[in-house]
Amino acid sequence: MRLRELGLINYRNYIKLELAFSSNLIIFSGKNAQGKTNILESIFLSSIGRSHRTSRDREIILKGEKESRVRALVEKKEGLSLIEIALAQNENKKISINGMAADRLGELMGHINSVLFSPEDLRLVKGSPTERRRFIDMGISQTFPRYFYSLQRYNKILGHRNNLLKSIGEKDSLRKTLSVWDEQLSETGAYIISRRLKFIEDLKIIAKRTHREISFDEEELDISYIPSIEIDSDNTEAIMKEYMKTLETNHNDDIRRGRTEKGCHRDDLNIFINGMDVRNFGSQGQQRTSVLSLKLSEIEMMHKETGEYPLLLLDDVMSELDQYRQGELISYFDKVQTFITTTDYGNLPHIKDKNAEIYIVNKGKVDKA
Ligand SMILES: Nc1ncnc2c1ncn2[C@@H]1O[C@H](COP(=O)(O)OP(=O)(O)O)[C@@H](O)[C@H]1O
Ligand SMILES: [Mg+2]
Repeated sequence: MRLRELGLINYRNYIKLELAFSSNLIIFSGKNAQGKTNILESIFLSSIGRSHRTSRDREIILKGEKESRVRALVEKKEGLSLIEIALAQNENKKISINGMAADRLGELMGHINSVLFSPEDLRLVKGSPTERRRFIDMGISQTFPRYFYSLQRYNKILGHRNNLLKSIGEKDSLRKTLSVWDEQLSETGAYIISRRLKFIEDLKIIAKRTHREISFDEEELDISYIPSIEIDSDNTEAIMKEYMKTLETNHNDDIRRGRTEKGCHRDDLNIFINGMDVRNFGSQGQQRTSVLSLKLSEIEMMHKETGEYPLLLLDDVMSELDQYRQGELISYFDKVQTFITTTDYGNLPHIKDKNAEIYIVNKGKVDKA
């Protein structure tokens, strides 16, 4: 897919911005704190409905204003899609798709797919399991909207169950109602786990190949899903049975802690290079390249699932990669529309022969170079 137009009103440091893109490689160049990342953030927001930098919409609204607007027009094989998002101070965001109001955030999924790669993504390797689950969940949600709804449902049920666990601590007679939530959590959780297993199984193959290329055949990247519930098959029914059993076995522990200890909300992803956990034993360089491999593989996964390449958003990452790895990324620019931020576009290789559209970003103003 191609982003054709992007319009921002009262978005971060932009009072009004209107851009029309005609090429496959778009560069935003400028000094620090001028508004480069803000543009990529707005594209990401129109893709999955939230910022990668904050969960508080009001932070995005231009200081002193009441409302922010983002308008994104994308071209896909099946035609054009127009996404409009309005963020207000004390209201939920309003989303409209091709002029029709969307009631639920999930409806946005799949209209604009994107993969964002920024320096903070090292958290994917070094950070907590939450980061890795987010990576998996974003990847699947963009191609399977039903998955996104299941996640929302799961979190709701989990909240209810945790509240009940705390209440049982004070009033033991409530214990008998726990099984209702066990059942619902197991059903939704089992679906989530089976989808994740499928996703990781496919991603693993692509990531292995990609990483071998990036590392000149020297490194073997291996990823695997680590469930907190013991499962011995990827069959949803079987997982559900194990889920139920585990929850029941853990009733007393859960009540004592006042929260649900086991389940897909505690699962993790292992990332190994040459048999060693990259998180603990990988060099900084290996950690960086394994994230790059995973992101590039995510692009291929989305293409495989939807027949379209997503948008690629590269925030400040080119300068951190060596020539060879830059080259790996550049090879994607022909098939994947890519948005790059950099402090000096003169340092980017090959942009001339890729017909890049170059913009200079300066204090919330954007001009063609
Ligand atoms: N809600 C907001 N209202 C006004 N300005 C904002 C808001 N949020 C961030 N900014 C401004 O945006 C700028 C940072 O933009 P950013 O895109 O992160 O810069 P960079 O070019 O370094 O990527 C800063 O000048 C910051 O003050
Ligand atoms: Mg930035």
